[in-house]
Amino acid sequence: MIWHRSHCLREINDQPQEGGLLICQDALEVDLNPYMGQAQMVYLDPPGSSGNAFTCKLRVGKRGYESSRQAVQLPAYEDGRHPRDERYLRKIRKLIELSHLLLDETGSMFLHVTVDNLARTRLMMDEVFGEDQFRNQIIWSFQTGGRSKRYFSRKHDAILFYAKSDKHYFDITQVPIAKRGSRDNHMKRHVDEHGRSYRSIVSGGKKYIYYDDEPVFPDDVWADVSQMQQKDPQRTGYPGQKPQALLDRMVLSTTRPGDLVVDLCCGSGTALASAATNERRFIGIDNSPVAFAACRKRLSPYRLVCQAPLSQSGAMLDAAVLPGIGYYTVSINAYTVPEEELAGITRQPKDLVIEGMDLIDQWHAGLINKGVFVSYASSLREKQTPELETSLEVPLLRGTVAIMLIDVLGRRSLWTGTPAF
Ligand SMILES: C[S@@+](CC[C@H](N)C(=O)[O-])C[C@H]1O[C@@H](n2cnc3c(N)ncnc32)[C@H](O)[C@@H]1O
Repeated sequence: MIWHRSHCLREINDQPQEGGLLICQDALEVDLNPYMGQAQMVYLDPPGSSGNAFTCKLRVGKRGYESSRQAVQLPAYEDGRHPRDERYLRKIRKLIELSHLLLDETGSMFLHVTVDNLARTRLMMDEVFGEDQFRNQIIWSFQTGGRSKRYFSRKHDAILFYAKSDKHYFDITQVPIAKRGSRDNHMKRHVDEHGRSYRSIVSGGKKYIYYDDEPVFPDDVWADVSQMQQKDPQRTGYPGQKPQALLDRMVLSTTRPGDLVVDLCCGSGTALASAATNERRFIGIDNSPVAFAACRKRLSPYRLVCQAPLSQSGAMLDAAVLPGIGYYTVSINAYTVPEEELAGITRQPKDLVIEGMDLIDQWHAGLINKGVFVSYASSLREKQTPELETSLEVPLLRGTVAIMLIDVLGRRSLWTGTPAF
């Protein structure tokens, strides 16, 4: 049976583990008034100013997820035109001001920038937060990317760390790091009267003692977190994705379980994944539908409230509902997209034919009740589950049975067999 498109005010992912709010909209246009002064930590990783446009590599179908040889490149976001571009600078400033308003008095802000934008954004942060609230200019150094012979290769990002006020909460003991053995080799080794081994060094007339069983904490140069490798299991294909270990260090040192973490340019949702796995709540916002699709998939194990636009297109869905004892079985028979809508898309390989279930990247079955779609079951293409299920079960509760799907063009659509509104 051919299903028709439906609407909802929001989507809820019915999961027991707490997650947060996911919004696909310009962060500067979202009504965040209910959350002012509530965030314990804001991470902001805005677009840079290279003038480049970035695409997201989305694998296609079972073969794509098994071998990565079948994919499409979807437009994701664009950098500002130039580091001095007025529009770009105004936007960054507004995002910083909004972050400041969202923070609790004990809260922290981390602004992640490339060296091109460091000087200007540092001054903005001083103006908005106050110079006294500057805590660190963290250097995240890595070895990936190209090398230059015209100047020393640029192998770091800066992360500007500011406090909202002097009531700042910070607990470095939450983020111990591995000991770097070789660093201590030049020190003398000893054992004290309790049998504890330590190393000592005299510098400037003062003796420094380091016990071998004492934890070591990071300083402001983070060289122990590598960029994601090509085959990293975390990799979503979204451009600019940061490794979760980087975010874990910021989240764990500045927040406690249950606190609210906000990311106004959340991309693939790394800060949100860090918040959720560390039992913090989150609000993630991004105006790119492709970013929303990546986050929706990545955060599927958690309870989510999602607000994102539904696309209109010439796609058609053939589906069926079979009532059982205590549940409905919801099945997809076919999904088709008109050839002209697929025409402009960049494919790998170039002659890749995308048809049938390969046109779908994730789907969720649930019920629409009072304008809210609650998703009870999901099938997501992932490395571990490259093939989509064609049937899902939904509990026999009040509401209209519906399917939310996101296709390989990153388009999100809601469908029902009977009119829902
Ligand atoms: C560098 S990426 C963030 C990557 C992210 N930290 C991750 O780990 O995946 C920057 C993101 O900012 C988003 N963005 C740009 N302008 C925005 C705006 N006005 N509101 C919300 N998101 C925005 C872009 O769509 C892009 O996904």
